Amino acid sequence: FSQNPYDLWLQYDNIEEQHILETYKNQVSNIYLSLNSATGTVIKEEIQKAFKGLLGIEPKFDSKTPNIIISTLDKLDPSLQKKLPEISKMNDEAYVIQYISDSKDAQIIISAITEKGLLYGVFNFIKQMQLRNDLSKLSISDSPKIQKRLLNHWDNLDRSVERGYAGFSIWDWYLLPELIKQEYIDYARANASIGINGTVLTNVNSNALVLSPRYIQKLKALADVFRPYGIQVYLTARFSAPIETGDLETADPLNAEVKQWWKNKADEIYAAIPDFGGFLVKANSEGQPGPNNYGRSHVDGANMLAEAVAPHNGIIMWRAFVYSEEKPEDRAKQAYSEFKPFDGKFKDNVLVQVKNGAIDFQPREPFHPLFGAMPNTPLMMEFQITQEYLGGMSHLVFLPQLFEEVLEEDTYTQGKGSTVAKIIDGQLSNKKLTGMAGVANIGTAKNWTGHPFGQANWYGFGRLAWDPETSAKTIAQDWLKMTFTNDSDFVDPMTRLLLESREAVVNYMTPLGLHHIMAANHHQGPGPWVKDMPRPDWTSVYYHKAAADGIGFDRTSSGSNALEQYAPEIQKKYSDPATTPDKYLLWFHHLPWDYKMKSGKTLWYEIAAHYQKGVEQVEGMQKTWQKMQKYVNPQVFEKTNMLLNIQLKEAKQWRNACLLYFQQFSKMDFPDFIPEMT
Ligand code: GCU
Repeated sequence: FSQNPYDLWLQYDNIEEQHILETYKNQVSNIYLSLNSATGTVIKEEIQKAFKGLLGIEPKFDSKTPNIIISTLDKLDPSLQKKLPEISKMNDEAYVIQYISDSKDAQIIISAITEKGLLYGVFNFIKQMQLRNDLSKLSISDSPKIQKRLLNHWDNLDRSVERGYAGFSIWDWYLLPELIKQEYIDYARANASIGINGTVLTNVNSNALVLSPRYIQKLKALADVFRPYGIQVYLTARFSAPIETGDLETADPLNAEVKQWWKNKADEIYAAIPDFGGFLVKANSEGQPGPNNYGRSHVDGANMLAEAVAPHNGIIMWRAFVYSEEKPEDRAKQAYSEFKPFDGKFKDNVLVQVKNGAIDFQPREPFHPLFGAMPNTPLMMEFQITQEYLGGMSHLVFLPQLFEEVLEEDTYTQGKGSTVAKIIDGQLSNKKLTGMAGVANIGTAKNWTGHPFGQANWYGFGRLAWDPETSAKTIAQDWLKMTFTNDSDFVDPMTRLLLESREAVVNYMTPLGLHHIMAANHHQGPGPWVKDMPRPDWTSVYYHKAAADGIGFDRTSSGSNALEQYAPEIQKKYSDPATTPDKYLLWFHHLPWDYKMKSGKTLWYEIAAHYQKGVEQVEGMQKTWQKMQKYVNPQVFEKTNMLLNIQLKEAKQWRNACLLYFQQFSKMDFPDFIPEMT
């Protein structure tokens, strides 16, 4: 095997199926490539790498009799242009790949309006060979449905990574700008291959130092590396930066000097990096400074920064992850309460970035009620790819399943079918600006993500940011085939394993709508007993409310009424436990331990059954994995094996800890299937 984990899903091992290999070689050996730019070089190098690896050939470029033509639309012969799907009507990141059977010159045309589109087309073309598809049937026209497809690195300048489980930050600030690591280039390649077009390099809990001239030079060096791959760089902006740099005594967004400070800062950054993307801001959240410190609103803060970057086409991504211990309101309600009144008040270049759920990247949460509630404001989705609450470094969890579930949810805000996907891709209210962010799981680990299967989550995020209606199953299959092998004896059972892995983690951590019952601070293991924290909304007891009378958070009208933040259709369904889906039951209801579930069993029995099922699902994953040895690089096989052992041990810890803790309140016996626990 080669299957070098460093190469991620861009595995170009020699095609073993002889008939496919021969057919491909005949179809693709001679290339005409019209570009002489930096992106052209990237395309050329990628083709060389892929053809050498997959086909064992050196492709011939500039052939007079090419069988592949790779060209932007404007440089394509008009007779060929006519044969392509209506690319000119598509956006500037779109591409087509078309097999033309009646052409005497070429069989395969890859074309796009821009070079960036062409790069995406070439990656997809290579993927077709990785997937062993029939090239003579190619007729693909594709374009991203979302404009800003961004990774968010929670990387600090000292190279620690907040909630990172894959080593240190890959940004070697100390050695930049002089040292350009190969990893930067390969990072860009990997991202471009899945259509990611931007990266926020720094932590949302930000450090103003990154805005200093010295760091801008470092940033410029990275931006120069990423540019040919169509990737823009962004930074997090610390709201109090004008003070921390020592320049001003206030950061009040309405103060003229403050406004000028940010304008100058933006001009300075753009002078070095003309295509700098803009700023991501966490303000007045978890102790971060923000406009509220000066009695100003989020709109005041966001719009002030938006004005500074607007002349350069920059954007501001203003996070809606705000909650305050000073407010008595249910934490799940606070972002909506605070942001909804601002609908339509932000400048055109502001996106409000909303986490997928209202609490915090839990194994399962209902979709955030802000989706659909701000029709006049572009809302950007924030997913977390790093597994802060999903087993961190040791659990195999296929997150596209979680992302898909959220994106498919119907908000009903503009009638049936108003899915979260349609809100964030702008379809529902014709948004000009759209975006999706994923908190990165990347670090200096030799395989980038630590857990070998963390790569699937990075890959899957990219696919969903490109098209939020892509199915998790397709993503799983493509990733498995590209990363390991096309053999269906591997792909089929492993697809089932991936698709089940998310439900497994929900079962053994937080079944039936339970949430945030993790250990304090690190969030890895169980901690339903956590109560002594600096703030009540950081404790577990705040969320599960287990007591003699039952368990769960009442978010109906008899409780916090967070439910009122959703559309009437959802309110109606979820206000009654009998019609609330089991998966959200204890998110919305506080119910007695002997409450009769849809299954006819008691709530206590069902809680126990879910914890047990989660453990058994991990055992099932282990069994499946054992059969995969012959398809997988031995090191990856063994590492995954050992990690699954840890996952099983931890799943059992979760089950035992939570059930023993809750039993003090339920005072009910465990069902027979629960083993003896210590
Ligand atoms: C979570 C996480 C923090 C992070 C915060 C955020 O609370 O634990 O580390 O800073 O989310 O998204 O801002």
